[in-house]
Parts: sequence; C-alpha cells; structure tokens
Amino acid sequence: MKRKQGIEKAGGKLGVLIPGLGGAVSTTFMAGVEAVRSGISAPIGSLTQLGTIRLGKRFEGRVPAIKDLVPLAELEDLVFGGWDIYPDNCYEAAIKAGVLNRDDLQGVEPFLKELRPWPGVFKREFVKNLSGTHVKPKGPHLELVESLREDIDSFKREHGISRCVMIWCASTEVYVEPGEVHSSLSKFEKGLKENDPAISPSMIYAYAALRSGVPFINGAPNLTVDIPAMTELASKQQVPITGKDFKTGQTLMKTVLAPGLKARMLGLTGWYSTNILGNRDGLVLDDEGSFKTKEQSKLSALETILQPDVYPKLYSDFKHKVVISYYPPRGDQKEGWDAIDIFGWLGYPMQIKVNFLCRDSILAAPVVLDLVLFMDLAQRAAMSGIQEWLSFYFKSPQCAPNLYPEHDLFIQLTKLKNTLRYLMGEEQITHLGLDYYYET
Ligand SMILES: NC(=O)c1ccc[n+]([C@@H]2O[C@H](COP(=O)([O-])OP(=O)(O)OC[C@H]3O[C@@H](n4cnc5c(N)ncnc54)[C@H](O)[C@@H]3O)[C@@H](O)[C@H]2O)c1
Repeated sequence: MKRKQGIEKAGGKLGVLIPGLGGAVSTTFMAGVEAVRSGISAPIGSLTQLGTIRLGKRFEGRVPAIKDLVPLAELEDLVFGGWDIYPDNCYEAAIKAGVLNRDDLQGVEPFLKELRPWPGVFKREFVKNLSGTHVKPKGPHLELVESLREDIDSFKREHGISRCVMIWCASTEVYVEPGEVHSSLSKFEKGLKENDPAISPSMIYAYAALRSGVPFINGAPNLTVDIPAMTELASKQQVPITGKDFKTGQTLMKTVLAPGLKARMLGLTGWYSTNILGNRDGLVLDDEGSFKTKEQSKLSALETILQPDVYPKLYSDFKHKVVISYYPPRGDQKEGWDAIDIFGWLGYPMQIKVNFLCRDSILAAPVVLDLVLFMDLAQRAAMSGIQEWLSFYFKSPQCAPNLYPEHDLFIQLTKLKNTLRYLMGEEQITHLGLDYYYET
C-alpha cells in the first residue's frame, strides 16, 4: 500500500499551545528544547530527534534518521505559548517544579522568564486539590471557548505563526463517565450553549483548538477528545486528535514486560504496582476523583495485552492493583515498585520485582516533543481524526470504537514506523525475511 498524496512542507513557525504551561512536564519540555537549540544538551529519549528507520531490504543498508525521512518541523521553528491557573513565569514555575537543577536552568533562564501563561479555564469541581488564582472570569462555556480562540489568534499574530498544535499538559481531571452530552457533536454543542456541567475545562480547550483547526493531543487520562462528539468534530474540521495519558514510567515498563511474558506463554497470577511521588501531579492524584481517572488508565494495559479470553489457562484470574501515594519528600522523582507473580511449566510459581526510580518529567518531555512534531506532520499529511499510530506514546491509546487499543510497545513502534514508511511511499516491513533464503 502506498501513499498517494504529498505532504505540505514544514516551513515557517510552529506554535505549541500548552494548557498547563507552568507544570513540571511543560517547563521541563520547553527548557530542554531550548537547551538543545542552544547546543547545551542532547535530545535524549526523543525518537524524532535520535531515532532511525530501516527502509527496504536488510542488505540495502538504508537506515536514515527519522527526521531525514519525514518532513518534520525544526526545533528552531517551535514557539511556545499557553495557559496556567498560576501566574508564575516559566522560570519561576520550573524552579518550583524542582525537576531541573538551578545550574541547568541558568542557561535557559532568560528564555523561560519570557514565557508567561495566559489565565486558564478552570473549574474546581474537576481538579479538587488545586485552587487556581490565574483564571478567566467565570462565564458561559461558549464565552470561554471564544476567549481561548482569541488567545490562539493573538499568539499566532504576535509571532507570525501559520500552524499550531495544542498539547494538554495540565492536571488530571476527576473521572467522568461518557454521557449523553458527549455522544454526538450536536448534543455537545447544545450542552455548550446550556453550560452542561459534564463538559470539563479540558473539553473546552479541545473544542476551541479543533474549531480553530489546531490538532489536539491529550497527555492526561481525562476523556477530553476521547468522546464521539470530538471525533466527529475532528473529522469535520479535518484535524488530527490523539491521546490519552503519556506512557512514561511504570506503564512503559509494563508494556515492555507483559508482551514478553505472553510471548513465552508464561502465566500471571498477580501484578501489584505501587508508586510514591511528591510533585503537584501527585497532589492532584491524591484526590479520589482524579486518582480514579488515572487508575482506569493505568489498569487498562495489562488486560488488553494478555487477552484473558484467548488464554484462559494463563491469564483468566490475575489480580492487578495500582496504588499511587502522594509523598512530598520525593518531588518529581517518583519511585515505582512492581511485584509480579508469574507461573511456568507445571504451574510452578516465580516472582519478578521491578523497582523503577524514575524522573517523571524527564521521561515525559521527549514524548511531548515527539507528539508535537508528529501531530504537525499528520496535519500537513491531511490525516484527520484519531491518530492510532501514535499509541506508542500513551497509556490508554485512543482508537476507533470498534477496535481494542494496541498496548504492546513493540507493536506500537512497528505501527508508528510503518505509518512513516507508508506516508513516504516506502515498502512496509513485515519481518517475514524468508525471501532472503527462498524464492517467495
Ligand atoms: N510526568 C509524567 O510522566 C506524566 C505521565 C502521564 C501523564 N502525565 C500527566 O501530565 C499532566 C502534567 O503533569 P505534571 O507532572 O506536569 O503536573 P503539574 O501539576 O506539575 O502541571 C500541571 C499544570 O497544569 C496547571 N493546570 C491545572 N488545571 C489547569 C487548567 N484547567 N488550565 C490550565 N492549566 C491548568 C497546573 O496549575 C499545573 O501548573 C498531568 O495530567 C499528568 O497526570 C504526566
């Protein structure tokens, strides 16, 4: 299968719009991009910046960098802007987030100080443990949408920007079941007019983005664009959407290990995952409602990878528990513990322990960069609606309603790279390989 259409060039500036501009992930991401642009640092962890892609047969030796194969925006062309419910400039916010040390921040201090968030759309019912002071005046939903769209327009005008991408790096909202108002675009728009309380701030941002023709990425587990109303709007506006919940620490490890156990037909009796973290994200998740949103997202991967229905002897009865504890002394340096109980030949039990002392935002920052660049590519390649090929980056990948999401990290990577090959009219790599030995 070969791609027929061309892809628009990535000329000019790309605006990166971030709800949650002053958060740990956002400030670490922007500080890192500036450090890379200034030649102070390398973009470790970023597939778009460091990854390669094999093309053609193994003996051809064609392995270009991904960024040399597909036309991605240059880091120099990224311009940042966004909203937060606290007024700190991004330097002050980065100091408070405590991810990067003062020495590393010094090199990018003037750049971060220039970045000041616009007042956010905020409703305390959706994030109970924060009380924002830098918020837009309370008003009808539609007024808030218009105010966000004006922010986007003036940002574009001020910086001479032609294209934008919006990425939600704001706090996790409380758990919301998809309801009637989310079920179609017409019902959602009626709900907007009537200020329906089931429309969350993240949905207001997403609606404003899509109406403005801006692709939307959801880095948190909130529903946001994972509702029929938004998929309908994305198709109508011909804009790509993707989410949800960046796959960074514990779930990254889970989606590496679980496919390995399944590949060898080893059984599972239980997987106990616990985390301690002390950043603002941890504070937000200390609220039951926000935790439930995160818990649902973290629980979904194992079940889908292991397929208990297909392998009842191995996976029909495993216990999966996820605990997140807010523990301020750890700041952003989360500690994850996984106790995994497996069984092998003749049912003999074995155990695996994973103790990941990670840095949440250090893992998330390159994911944000890749998603921004790939979503801009998708927009220029006229790929609208759900971008399942970006599942690689998410804990709860959004996919078409009649499909189950793909969680296995290596299948996700194959899907991503095959999509890039497809876009560039290159042959898909199936890894069959028999043609190296026989005539097929
Ligand atoms: N760090 C990771 O590894 C990781 C992984 C997966 C998902 N996430 C998600 O990414 C998001 C950001 O994480 P973080 O560690 O930077 O959290 P953070 O608390 O440091 O940052 C979130 C920012 O969003 C702001 N905010 C909250 N509601 C807002 C609103 N309505 N409008 C504008 N700004 C708003 C907060 O003031 C804060 O500055 C969270 O939802 C988190 O669950 C992070």
